[in-house]
Amino acid sequence: MARRFLFGTNFKMNQTPAESAAFLEALAGAVVIPDGAQLFVIPPFTSLPAVTDLAGATNSPVWIGAQNMHWADAGAYTGEISAAMLQALGVDLVLLGHAERRGLFHESDRDINRKVLTAFERGLRVLLCVGETADERAFDVGGETVARQLKIGLHDIDPARLPLLQIAYEPVWSIGAAGVPARPDDVEPMARLIRDVVGERFGEAGRDVPVLYGGSVDAANAAGFVALPDIDGLFVGRAAWTVDGFRSVLDASLRERFGRSIG
Ligand code: 13P
Repeated sequence: MARRFLFGTNFKMNQTPAESAAFLEALAGAVVIPDGAQLFVIPPFTSLPAVTDLAGATNSPVWIGAQNMHWADAGAYTGEISAAMLQALGVDLVLLGHAERRGLFHESDRDINRKVLTAFERGLRVLLCVGETADERAFDVGGETVARQLKIGLHDIDPARLPLLQIAYEPVWSIGAAGVPARPDDVEPMARLIRDVVGERFGEAGRDVPVLYGGSVDAANAAGFVALPDIDGLFVGRAAWTVDGFRSVLDASLRERFGRSIG
């Protein structure tokens, strides 16, 4: 069976609730989503109530995600948000282990594993990010880093929860304005490695976990990643923060993947 194509954006620390809701509303009128494709939008926490309300009211097929969560159900964790809080808003997905969380906010593999376990216990979909730093790449240990992030991040998870998992390969050196876009030749071996590591741990079901690429994706380079045999989708930052931008990167992707544009 053909694997599903996933495409979404992470707004990071951008957009007010009104701006995020306007984005979702405009997106609904701007794209026709083909069968076999799933879109997602991950706004900041403060936008989630407005966006999930709108998604519910309009029966939107777009998954709405949160950018992070804490592993505990409740407690003295000032500034943190629990899985139950996200679920009360009707969030479909939680992003865990983004490079900016790992790098700037010192999240460890162990922390991320706790979060993955909690999300799965709660039945929340997870988009788990993995990727090596520029130094790790320079010393040729990128594969070891990604394998370690996966082995620890997915430690002890219940195999029955695997259908809730999607993985984004986002090399740290390719993300953001200071990033150098990866080449498809860099991405395919890492996507295959991700599939192999998860497959070794969970068997065939592990090999079917969707693997996305993210890091300086734009309308010009998207098709090159989408064409890769082990890539199931794209996770886009800056290039998809406007509806026009989202639409043009999506259009380039769908032309490559489905041989047709979004109309
Ligand atoms: P950019 O596309 O802006 O490099 O960001 C990618 C990313 O971090 C998505 O989570």
